[in-house]
Amino acid sequence: MGETLLIQNIGLLQTPVGSDRHCGARQAENRRLKNASVLCRDGRIAAIAEDGQLPQGAEGAQVYDAGGRLVTPGLIDAHTHLVFGGWRQGEIPLKLRGAGYLDILRAGGGILDTVRHTRAASEEQLFEKSRAFLDEMLSLGVTGCEIKSGYGLDLDTELKQLRVIQRLRREHPMDVSATFLGAHAVPDEYKGQADRYVDFVCGEVIPRVAEQKLADFCDVFCEDGVFDVQQSRRILETGKQYGLLPKIHADEIEELGGTELAGELGAISAEHLIAAGERGMQALKQGGVIACLLPQTSFYLGKTFAPARRMIELGIPVALASDFNPGSCPSCNLQLSVNLGMLRYKMLPEEVLTAVTVNAACACGTERECGTLEVGKKADLVIWDAPDWEMVCYRFGSNQAKTVVKHGKVLER
Ligand code: NIG
Ligand code: FE
Repeated sequence: MGETLLIQNIGLLQTPVGSDRHCGARQAENRRLKNASVLCRDGRIAAIAEDGQLPQGAEGAQVYDAGGRLVTPGLIDAHTHLVFGGWRQGEIPLKLRGAGYLDILRAGGGILDTVRHTRAASEEQLFEKSRAFLDEMLSLGVTGCEIKSGYGLDLDTELKQLRVIQRLRREHPMDVSATFLGAHAVPDEYKGQADRYVDFVCGEVIPRVAEQKLADFCDVFCEDGVFDVQQSRRILETGKQYGLLPKIHADEIEELGGTELAGELGAISAEHLIAAGERGMQALKQGGVIACLLPQTSFYLGKTFAPARRMIELGIPVALASDFNPGSCPSCNLQLSVNLGMLRYKMLPEEVLTAVTVNAACACGTERECGTLEVGKKADLVIWDAPDWEMVCYRFGSNQAKTVVKHGKVLER
């Protein structure tokens, strides 16, 4: 018999059920088991029991006492840019003088500043820095995440970033999905020639990324003054031809039509959507696209909040993520998205839990393995320093994850 762990004395176990994209009323469906226990064997969930019963096969297992606390699935952060060189605290004075996010980018700062630092960093340095972020995220209750490239904007550095992501996937306990975001900004070498840069990405970079199997998804920053809808379409269609599933940064700042494009292409997810309008949302619904919302970015950029309630009403599956990056969201704490999802999107606690677990897993392509607590799935779960999920939604600013179990192993911190 393999390695077994029995987590017992769980006051409340709360989880969505199933591996489908949860939308509409289903977004609020959570299973709740009282006085529960979970048996983990060989990194998977072997059995779940409630009402003080012992799961079958629990004899001889190592026991962890949850002390009557809440247990949920490990959280999944479906949108991060966590492999980067440098930071951008130097932008503070510009921001305080009123410069907007796109003003700073147009002036050669913002993403382009991070590109300079990422190009200059060695692969080893980038690996060490991002490994520490994954450690921090794990301690905050995140057991799976997506990571985007996009701070290279040249062939070598994009491949370097993606190799770092692949190494994290191999060497770190976190489940990692990889997204190629070569069209994140127009680099200095192509200033004023976005079409030529798109030719380069489609003709030279995407084929290499695919050939070396470095990414699962392809993304583009479809935004006023960055890549327009036509250019975004070329990038995503080329990615698709090479087996990279489409994702898109759409309507983050201006409503440009990226959301409609996501629907038309049947993208896995459309992300941000702060400025999304009714037409765009109808397109998401039609295309079965996940809306991946990033409330910390709205907060940090001082923007409005995406129309999450309307999306749920329309039957669009909603995921919540952090957007961790050195510009618009220098925080990797997904718990803050939980708080803001409830407070600012007015999502019900149950809807929020679905958004940071199973719907986020769907956006990462890991929904068969992760995102719910069910027999056969990975034994990834969080024991919260809270009696119920409402408490986790309500308190903010401190780490409420007490203990994280990844692949059936209790992680020390
Ligand atoms: O999702 N908007 C584009 N990308 C990131 C920000 C990246 C950066 O500023 O470094 C975002 O907000
Ligand atoms: Fe982003």
